[in-house]
Formats: sequence, structure tokens, C-alpha cells
Amino acid sequence: MLNVIICGAPGSGKGTQSDFIVKKYQLTHLSTGDILRKETASGSKFGKLIDSYTSKGELVPDELMVNILAKQIDSLPAGSKGVILDGFPRTVAQAEALEKMLAERGQKTSILVDLQVGKEELIDRLLKRGQTSGRSDDNLETITKRLEVYEEKTKPVSAYYQKLDKYTPVNGIGTLEEIFDRIDIAIKACR
Ligand code: AP5
Repeated sequence: MLNVIICGAPGSGKGTQSDFIVKKYQLTHLSTGDILRKETASGSKFGKLIDSYTSKGELVPDELMVNILAKQIDSLPAGSKGVILDGFPRTVAQAEALEKMLAERGQKTSILVDLQVGKEELIDRLLKRGQTSGRSDDNLETITKRLEVYEEKTKPVSAYYQKLDKYTPVNGIGTLEEIFDRIDIAIKACR
């Protein structure tokens, strides 16, 4: 099994590059942002609770996220070649829960790819996307909050995976193909 975590600040290209990785390695794409947006769009009570965090740029509480992810992992199709985790883990507590969850299933994380993109470029990309995305969190106020939350809560996840010798920083600036080539080299090296 190849289990790839793709990490990086909001707008760093996690979703975009996940599509390339899925295509090449036939992995199952688990995007926690997409899962949460789907639940919110359903209009359920749970979706409304989720929206009360996401629309402000805050993280959904760890306990809820870990339960959501465990359900996804337990419903992977038989014969799955592995997963690409996009947007999870976002806190050290989530990273610890993930590694425990994988170990209980006889698996482990193969690599964490950390897309590195400067703040100005991130804001530029997200504001541009906000013109058409309809996402309630693609506005300057919420983007600023998301970047603060990333610095405070998600950056420490890198150190956690550095200790496990799974951490690989990748330059996230360039064409989509150039960035994917860098990721591909890193994935091949971890196998
Ligand atoms: P999530 O959906 O994960 O949002 P995010 O991390 O803020 O990331 P984005 O989807 O905005 O960006 P991305 O890095 O995927 O970049 P993309 O490829 O789209 O999470 C949303 C919210 O849900 C969170 O804020 C939180 O509230 C909640 N949440 C999710 N997971 C959670 C968890 N585990 N725990 C708690 N809460 C959680 O690209 C962005 C734009 O840039 C696109 O328009 C794209 O076309 C463009 N682009 C991509 N690559 C390039 C390039 N190389 N050059 C130029 N433009 C590019």
C-alpha cells in the first residue's frame, strides 16, 4: 500500500496535485475539505455545525475529524492500492490518531509531501479562485485566518513527520507538470 499525505498551506496546490498523483498511482483521494463541503451542502444539522467552523477559517475539532477519517479508511474499496490524504492531518493530535489508525490496520504513512509556496502567491491564488469557486472561505478575511491557523496548528505536523523520517518538502511554485515531476521523484524514492 502506498499512503501519501499531501500537506501545505491553503492554496498551495494540494487538491490540484492530488489529481495527478491519483492518476499515476491509482490511489483513493481522501480530501477532508471536499468531504466537509459535501456535508455542508447537504444542509444536514452536522453540515451546519461544520460550516460554523469552516466559514470562519477555523479547524473542525480533532475528534470529529478523526471519526470522519476512520469511516473513510474503513470504507476503502477492496484491493485499494493506497490513499492520498489531502488536508489531513492538520494538527499533531490528528497525526498521532492517523498513525495509530493505520498501525491498527497493519499500515503506515509512506511519505508526507509538503508543498512550499510563499504567502503572497497563496493569497493571490485563493482570491482568484474566490471569483468563481463559491467557497465561503475564499475571501480575504477568511484566507488571512486560514493562513494564521495553518502557521499555528498545522506547521508543527511537519516536525512530527520529520521525526518519523517521512517528511519531504517540495517547491510548489511552477507549472502543474513541473511540480508533479518533483512530487513523483519523491514518491518513487520512498517506495
Ligand atoms: P481544505 O479544502 O483542505 O482547504 P485548504 O487547505 O485551505 O486548501 P485549498 O483547498 O484552499 O487549497 P489547496 O492547497 O488544495 O490548493 P488547490 O489545489 O485547491 O479545507 C477547507 C476547510 O475545511 C479548512 O479551512 C478547515 O476549516 C476544514 N478542514 C479540512 N480538513 C480539516 C482537518 N483535517 N481538520 C480540521 N478542519 C479541516 O489550488 C488553489 C488554487 O490555486 C486553485 O485555483 C488552483 O487552480 C491554483 N493553483 C494550483 N496550483 C497552482 C500553480 N502551480 N500555479 C498557479 N495556480 C495554481
